[in-house]
Amino acid sequence: MTTAHALTRSDILGRPSFCKFSELGIRQFEHGYPADLLTTILTKALHLRVNAAKTNLDLRYLRDAHHHIPEVAQLMYDKERLRRLSDLADVPLEPYPVDFLSSMITFMSPEDGTVDWHGDSVPVTELIALSADDVSGGELVIYRGELDEGRARLASEGFLPEDRTTRITHRVGHSVFGQLMGVLHRTAPMTAGTRVTLNLNLRSAVQPHIDDQRLSHLAAESPEFDWLDHYVSDVRSRQLPSLRTSAAAAGKDSDA
Ligand SMILES: [Fe+2]
Repeated sequence: MTTAHALTRSDILGRPSFCKFSELGIRQFEHGYPADLLTTILTKALHLRVNAAKTNLDLRYLRDAHHHIPEVAQLMYDKERLRRLSDLADVPLEPYPVDFLSSMITFMSPEDGTVDWHGDSVPVTELIALSADDVSGGELVIYRGELDEGRARLASEGFLPEDRTTRITHRVGHSVFGQLMGVLHRTAPMTAGTRVTLNLNLRSAVQPHIDDQRLSHLAAESPEFDWLDHYVSDVRSRQLPSLRTSAAAAGKDSDA
């Protein structure tokens, strides 16, 4: 596996980070996933593109991709993939539990838009470019600094200095994989071409409470609230025990 880009979380934030499950920042690497599987996903995604909604981040995307396209589920739950990603993250990972956020397919072009500056609500994401045709722009741009400070700069100055950003060009055959919770980033505007990308979101299997999810954001994304019972059950059975264990361990450390 060759790595094109690698930054730790401290590299990105410019300071040690407390809210994290590991030092994973951002990595780009050759994924080696079966080409025929990805081609099938792309073909089915293009057929479903007409159903893809525009989001409040000004992006056209298809969510719940693993329900619409069985091959996405096959990749999402593939044990070898999860093992490799867990090795890279240095912590066991599992698919994100909120169904409509665990997999999505984005369609980007000058007409369809890209994703504006934001921090991820999900802890970890893997972005797998399925196609990239004559693309100009559209790089992943990461602000190296505090999210809140970057947002304040954007609000007052309208832009972020180039020398404080890292640009990663999405390449077919490569994944961009990162802990982008609390990290300010965007997709640069695309001035030409089209790109279709599969996004698979994950979280720590041992510290599932480490997350930036908010109920109001879930409700904004899915106002039918049909995710609520499952989410509450996950908080009760996974996130709360993990939070209590972490709090108890922190208490022991401070007692020592
Ligand atoms: Fe993001």
